[in-house]
Amino acid sequence: MRSSFLLLLPFLMSVREAKGGSDFRVCAFNLQHFGDSKAKKTEVMQILTRIITRCDVCLLQEVRDSKEKALPKLLASLNSYDSKHKYDAVASERLGRSESYQEQYVFVYRTDTVTVTGQYQYPDDRPGDVDAFSREPFVVRFKAPKAVIKEFVLIPQHTTPTNTTKELDALYDVLQHVKKMWKTENVMLLGDFNADCGYLAKKNRKHVRLITEKSLTWLIEDEIDTTVRSTTSCTYDRIVVHGEKFAREIVPLSAKPFDFQREYGLTEEQALEVSDHYPVEVLLKVVNSRLFFNGATSLALTGTKETTSKSKFLSLFCPQLPRVPSLDTVVK
Ligand SMILES: *[C@@H]1O[C@H](CO)[C@@H](O)[C@H](O)[C@H]1NC(C)=O
Repeated sequence: MRSSFLLLLPFLMSVREAKGGSDFRVCAFNLQHFGDSKAKKTEVMQILTRIITRCDVCLLQEVRDSKEKALPKLLASLNSYDSKHKYDAVASERLGRSESYQEQYVFVYRTDTVTVTGQYQYPDDRPGDVDAFSREPFVVRFKAPKAVIKEFVLIPQHTTPTNTTKELDALYDVLQHVKKMWKTENVMLLGDFNADCGYLAKKNRKHVRLITEKSLTWLIEDEIDTTVRSTTSCTYDRIVVHGEKFAREIVPLSAKPFDFQREYGLTEEQALEVSDHYPVEVLLKVVNSRLFFNGATSLALTGTKETTSKSKFLSLFCPQLPRVPSLDTVVK
């Protein structure tokens, strides 16, 4: 009885996972020139909609919506496709050094799982380093009761490829500034950092504090391909978390690119119509309510009398407890 129930556990958990609802997913997606003409392509909008509705919060980059029609259209599409949630967005101003080329950062989020509690356009006027960024981070603070971390800040960045080393290093200053301003340690930096291939030379990495500082964890590892084209393999898009606490509240090994070409059975050509980047994503641990309590109740019903083994079982559910018994000790 005991052992068969235990064998069921991973199964139950994965079923619950697959059904969704228990995840909290944060994504970052470079939409490669998202504006009017892309928004007019029905198939592209459908795929974007499927991708973005997987996420509780999704940072969109390369939004070039000068007519201000594409983004409302996208939001309408998200809300009609996924009626279980309601989606809204916060967007930065158009950012960029030249009038002719500007981009916006946009955070799309589910209003039923996330609240925006602050937003801040980094002024980029640091003495001695004025105008470090081409697209200054538009920093947003979120509250997410469902996630164990509860409150966190997202610092987005789409670097200028030729200035990647400089801009990534300067992001460390933004991090310090934001931590102080909002008195928080829970900060994630994410986006198309162009942090690979020709744009970030190996020999320059030791000069980038975002890489060298011990308080930061890079979740998308080098060698992971975040580009759609089969002829390229570069880890441009990244997710970096600050602080031990935030690192602990991430679901282990959940950070990855989302290969929508493969997931949706598209040709490379079809995928490239959507973007030349994969989105990258990570799961935050959620306050585990239902399964935990159901599990605990069923365990009680299996008739296990010894309290010691009961607490052993419970430790299986609760990753915070230091030791999980090995299968040998539990399954007889
Ligand atoms: C790179 O950065 C410098 C100063 O930070 C700036 O003057 C230059 O225009 C940047 N290059 C590009 C292509 O944005």
